[in-house]
Amino acid sequence: MTRPLVDPSPAAQVLASRLDGVPDVMLVLGSGLGPLADAVDDPTVVPFQDLPGFPPPGVEGHAGRWVHGRLEGRPVLVQQGRYHLYEGHSPDVVALPVRTARALGADTLIVTNAAGGIREDLGPGSLVMLDDHLNLQFRSPLTGPVREGEVRFPDMTEAYDRRLMAVAEAAASSEGIELSRGVYAAVPGPAYETPAEIRMLEGMGADVVGMSTVPEVLAARASGMRCLGFSLVTNPAAGRVPEPLDHADVMEVGRTAGVTLERLLRAVLRALPPA
Ligand code: HPA
Repeated sequence: MTRPLVDPSPAAQVLASRLDGVPDVMLVLGSGLGPLADAVDDPTVVPFQDLPGFPPPGVEGHAGRWVHGRLEGRPVLVQQGRYHLYEGHSPDVVALPVRTARALGADTLIVTNAAGGIREDLGPGSLVMLDDHLNLQFRSPLTGPVREGEVRFPDMTEAYDRRLMAVAEAAASSEGIELSRGVYAAVPGPAYETPAEIRMLEGMGADVVGMSTVPEVLAARASGMRCLGFSLVTNPAAGRVPEPLDHADVMEVGRTAGVTLERLLRAVLRALPPA
């Protein structure tokens, strides 16, 4: 079945009409990290339901709204809550917020997510800057006709911007925040992985695992946005500890360690060079 592609322009028009400025940075908040949106100064809030093509969001802990304003003086457009493939959304819908923000003028994408820690040293609460990723969802928002402003075959050698990564590492160290680098494996979900799958992912070079982020980064790279990604490790990956995985724990760690991530993001925004 071919689904009709969602055109981001009607949504971008409505969103632009509701905002009093143009963002240069788009910030996507992952599971449990939503409270960061409350830190935005002079916020304008636009629920996803107000935008054509945006389905109502479904997952617990995902509010589903835009928060536009300033963080550390920088104009930001925060996506609070996201669409996931596991909810049955197409990759096109998952990437719609990024394309909408791009249409509004955002040139930098900062994505955050909750992830399971595969690498031994990445316990709950660890912050990992994405160095690279593995698209094990095997789906892409770039299939089908090439969208306006996007390229057919985007280069993914440096999916995550090296210069911004260096800025983020300097910001982390000046804040005394421990920040590792790692490879993010994006899986379809929604079941957590089996221990055998985690061993397979480890063999493939993955350090953390999650169910999001890659579709958004693909759309962003296709239109030339600079990307920076952070995983907050909420749990040891399956089989690393005897206890089963529980979504409630994922949310709880997001809430507590999210405070450190907020401090890091603020420091990154202060130091972010223009695109
Ligand atoms: N696996 C996949 N996605 C996740 C995990 C995990 O262990 N933790 C948070 N999101």
